[in-house]
Amino acid sequence: MMRVDILSLFPSMFSGPFDDSIIRRAKENGILDIHILNPRDFAFDRHKHVDDSPFGGGSGMVLKPEPMYRAMRFLLETTSFARRRVLLMSPDGVTFTQKKAKELADFEQLIFICGHYEGFDARIMELADEILSIGDYVLTGGELPAMVMVDAVARMLPGVLGSEESAPTDSFYYGLLEYPQYTRPRDYHGKVVPEVLFSGDHAKIAAWRRRESLRLTFERRPDLLANVELTDEDRRFLKKLESEQNDGL
Ligand SMILES: C[S@@+](CC[C@H](N)C(=O)[O-])C[C@H]1O[C@@H](n2cnc3c(N)ncnc32)[C@H](O)[C@@H]1O
Repeated sequence: MMRVDILSLFPSMFSGPFDDSIIRRAKENGILDIHILNPRDFAFDRHKHVDDSPFGGGSGMVLKPEPMYRAMRFLLETTSFARRRVLLMSPDGVTFTQKKAKELADFEQLIFICGHYEGFDARIMELADEILSIGDYVLTGGELPAMVMVDAVARMLPGVLGSEESAPTDSFYYGLLEYPQYTRPRDYHGKVVPEVLFSGDHAKIAAWRRRESLRLTFERRPDLLANVELTDEDRRFLKKLESEQNDGL
């Protein structure tokens, strides 16, 4: 069982994405235990202020340290897991990847800190083991990034994916994009499924899939190829793709 705690000023944003499909099943099967905590409940003053204007001037509101620190203290005192990781959502963090999702799946507890408005008072950053971003764009809050990360990590937990879904053939799992998949009908208005998939020859199908994975990665995400373990045959195939590309110029 993995415990997930999310610190968010907008807890209702999480109903929906966590209440359906695979994540819902993971919760029902006792694999994921998700809790949302609102830092507003830990605000000091009568008006429950969680934000204030930035020192030094500037637009927008900045999240105050006290509610976040107090919410975090509460969490650390009321839960006890040997392996836990505190993750803070911020566009200036390290980009979240499939590799990171696999790594985080090894922890017993993940704590997500979601920002909003203009972001965090810089002292809140010190609460985190890691500052993570989901990409080079700015969202209104850390709720969607936390949902994205919980979803990606959950898929890596044993028992979450049924036989109808699988992780090891997915894009990025081994560093390459996934090969194209087909199902019935064999011929859809003249768009036919590659013949090799009906050959019954597993080695031949595996070789075709490997080549198609390489081809897609070469065409769409050549940057990924630098971090993939390639066989001699893979290298020969990539050389061929390269020379085909050069011939086309
Ligand atoms: C409007 S953003 C604040 C942006 C901040 N002023 C900056 O320029 O870095 C509000 C909050 O949304 C979340 N957020 C926005 N974009 C994100 C991204 N790409 N990845 C992770 N979190 C993000 C963070 O929690 C952030 O504190």
